[in-house]
Amino acid sequence: MFLSLKSMVFSADYNRDTLWRSIKATISIVLIFSVVFISYSAVSSSHYQWSCPHCDQYPDPFPAAIPGPTASPEPTNISHIVFGIGASSHTWHQRRGYSELWWRPGEMKGHVWLDEEPKRGSWPDTCPPYRVSADTSRYGARASASRIARIVAESFAVGMENVRWFVMGDDDTVFFIENLVAVLGKYDHDQMWYIGAPSESVEQNLQHSYGTAFGGGGFAISYPAAAELAKVIDGCLDRYIHFYGSDERIRACLSELGVPLTREPGFHQVDLRGDAYGMLAAHPIAPLVSLHHLDDVHRVIPSRSTQMDAIRTLMDASRQDPARTLQQTFCYNREQGHNWSVSVSWGYTVQLYHWVVPPHDLEVPLQTFRTWRSSQNGPFVFNTRPFTVSHNCEPMLFFLDRVSERRKAQQVSVTEYTRHESSIDKGCDRAGFASASQVRSIRVVAPKMDPYEWQKAPRRHCCEARSKVSNEKIIDVWIRHCYPGEITSPP
Ligand SMILES: *[C@@H]1O[C@H](CO)[C@@H](O)[C@H](O)[C@H]1NC(C)=O
Ligand SMILES: *[C@@H]1O[C@H](CO)[C@@H](O)[C@H](O)[C@H]1NC(C)=O
Repeated sequence: MFLSLKSMVFSADYNRDTLWRSIKATISIVLIFSVVFISYSAVSSSHYQWSCPHCDQYPDPFPAAIPGPTASPEPTNISHIVFGIGASSHTWHQRRGYSELWWRPGEMKGHVWLDEEPKRGSWPDTCPPYRVSADTSRYGARASASRIARIVAESFAVGMENVRWFVMGDDDTVFFIENLVAVLGKYDHDQMWYIGAPSESVEQNLQHSYGTAFGGGGFAISYPAAAELAKVIDGCLDRYIHFYGSDERIRACLSELGVPLTREPGFHQVDLRGDAYGMLAAHPIAPLVSLHHLDDVHRVIPSRSTQMDAIRTLMDASRQDPARTLQQTFCYNREQGHNWSVSVSWGYTVQLYHWVVPPHDLEVPLQTFRTWRSSQNGPFVFNTRPFTVSHNCEPMLFFLDRVSERRKAQQVSVTEYTRHESSIDKGCDRAGFASASQVRSIRVVAPKMDPYEWQKAPRRHCCEARSKVSNEKIIDVWIRHCYPGEITSPP
């Protein structure tokens, strides 16, 4: 409009009448727009008044300045967490071993919530104390899911002091406590948080929502969020009676409160079938917080005779250096013309590849598992790579065998990993197989990692690998922080 008016004004042969008509048209259009705008503003402000009759009873819902974090300066520790374990009195005695792996009597707060009084005589003092959940039979066919969903509220109602977080888990959830404390310590517990992780199997998230913290992996609800949830839970559960799990119901109720899931990749539902190996050997650069479904996957350390023994071995290593548990480091070895790639998953396993594999592949889980519900090849919420690569080649696997602490410098751990029998002497057409297949064990020396490192930007550590000159059968790996600007580039 302005352009055309301007061109008419400045054109050499303009016509006075045309110009005048244009000006009149412009003024009318401007007038019409103003009238429409003014009446719209009037309507919308009266609409605001109309829809919010009680607004003046509350403080300004849109304060000009939102107050900053009010987190207490005292760091979060184990005493600030209340655990709520969903269990049933019929199966507790078969399952309790998993809780006993991580529960520290006298140091921790919380309860196992049972459906009825336990049948057997005395309750073991190696377990969390128990309580019997309130009757939830009014919630229909899947009332047990509502019972488990109410544990947060029932734990809140117990009224323990100095509580910052409520952490829920199943009777077969294993927590890595120092890492749980480090993760929760990152968040301001005076605000409303819902922290956990969805399933590894996409099919599970499609069915039960990516916004659900899957309950077996455990999840954390901050005190203020638990307080709000406790107020609304009963009415809310009535609305979601048709939902399958307790975790989905919790999510639906938190959604009514407007509290979204904050994802922490260290919580593991382990919705996998087969061998969880590939996932555990390529953990994200984040602290390991939990594991679940351990009765449904292969023994994590195959040389142990039961899964419970295997997990106990993993947890014994974890105690030496909790923050480093399952953390990956990659190094390359070119001694004697080798092209070896070494991937350490600390406290668990080492993979030796007798060819060069770049870091962006080593950090991708080997697919040793299938999906949870339909036992398919995927998809998962992360990438995977096949276990057997070209030329029939598989990495050589080493599993944790021993943990020793250096007495002089307690700040260093030494873990030893021995070659898994089934991966010895597998045929492979790639050069270098013969010399690599001589290696029988790998020894990893690592400084203890500060758990507070997890409150900084995540970065993988670096390492160096040397084969022992006198004895070709051992590789020594030293883990350390990377030097400034250091890159782990394949040779
Ligand atoms: C945990 O922190 C509280 C302060 O909130 C402190 O009083 C207590 O001693 C700490 N407990 C442990 C086990 O460090
Ligand atoms: C290592 O890689 C180099 C270059 O790619 C190659 O020339 C050499 O033969 C390899 N050595 C072995 C033992 O495979």
